[in-house]
Amino acid sequence: MPTHPLIIAPSVLACNFGRLHEEVARAEAAGADWLHLDVMDGHFVDNISFGPAFVQAVAKVATVPLDVHLMIDKPAHYFPRFAPYAKNITIHIEAQDEVAPTLAAIRAAGCTCGLSLRPATPFATLLPFLEQIDLLLVMTVVPGFGGQPFMPETLSKVAAAVAERSARGLSFRIQVDGGITVATAADSARAGADTLVAGTSVFGAPEMGSAITSMRAAVESATA
Ligand code: DX5
Ligand code: ZN
Repeated sequence: MPTHPLIIAPSVLACNFGRLHEEVARAEAAGADWLHLDVMDGHFVDNISFGPAFVQAVAKVATVPLDVHLMIDKPAHYFPRFAPYAKNITIHIEAQDEVAPTLAAIRAAGCTCGLSLRPATPFATLLPFLEQIDLLLVMTVVPGFGGQPFMPETLSKVAAAVAERSARGLSFRIQVDGGITVATAADSARAGADTLVAGTSVFGAPEMGSAITSMRAAVESATA
């Protein structure tokens, strides 16, 4: 079974947009491994967040890799506008565009590619695409908004992904996103997640460095 080093990716959606530069620096100083960017188009989800110009602004000041999560209906059409700034681009299986060609195009553009699913979407829908991905994002809340409570029932998909990955000898990362705190990070890691997105619990913490350090420690002891 592949053991990927733990990645903690603060979600920029939860930061103070008016102080973007300082917030990026604060997250990096606190120990962020990646920064997660939630792009929402008002169609795929009932919210509009930010687009390529914002991601470019983050890229100008960030030194860690950027992980772009496209919660949009037309990822094939729009991902090239994010690709110059992203290390990883994740699309949703429920989006309108065809999945396999979009994943291939993301890799051809020089990024790693991720595939995500909503809590209501069964794990089996991903089976045809697992050979093609670098990261599987199991949404642990209904996508659209930060600050929602973690849905523990989604962890059965993390466990299913671990089993399928090992059965096929694959090595994609398993990411969780939504409601991640010290406690739910430990539960997710125990189920097999190696890549954690956390917005509110880290940007909203009194001290972001301790929030990330505690999360890392909780995961290490949960998986020791
Ligand atoms: C939800 C987004 C998440 C969100 C996580 O649609 O994909 O990345 O920002 O935020 P918290 O950690 O506040 O649940
Ligand atoms: Zn996200």
